[in-house]
Amino acid sequence: MSAVSTSRCRVLVCTNQRFGASADSCGRRGAAEVLATLDAAVADGRLPPDVAVAPGPCFGHCTKGPNVRIVGGDLLHGIAATDHEWAVARIAEAVAASCGGEKPSSSD
Ligand code: FES
Repeated sequence: MSAVSTSRCRVLVCTNQRFGASADSCGRRGAAEVLATLDAAVADGRLPPDVAVAPGPCFGHCTKGPNVRIVGGDLLHGIAATDHEWAVARIAEAVAASCGGEKPSSSD
């Protein structure tokens, strides 16, 4: 994970796991894969290097996850890592809107 202390923008991925037959949660919806995807995106330059990605707490929207909070900005729902490219693009847009800076160019 990126160093938080020197980061321009913090991105928290709810990785909370709720247990029970009817307990929906980000952890059950693939949050660990989202976290790994975003970490890799910082490492390979698809997200700016001064973005810190870290596990976060439950944001209270457990049935809409995986949920990602841009600290000081948006709370994003349904950031599924089944489509890595879309997830990274969505977070890049939110980071640019909330933290400033340029959005990384798309690969199209
Ligand atoms: S489990 Fe992620 S918002 Fe509650």
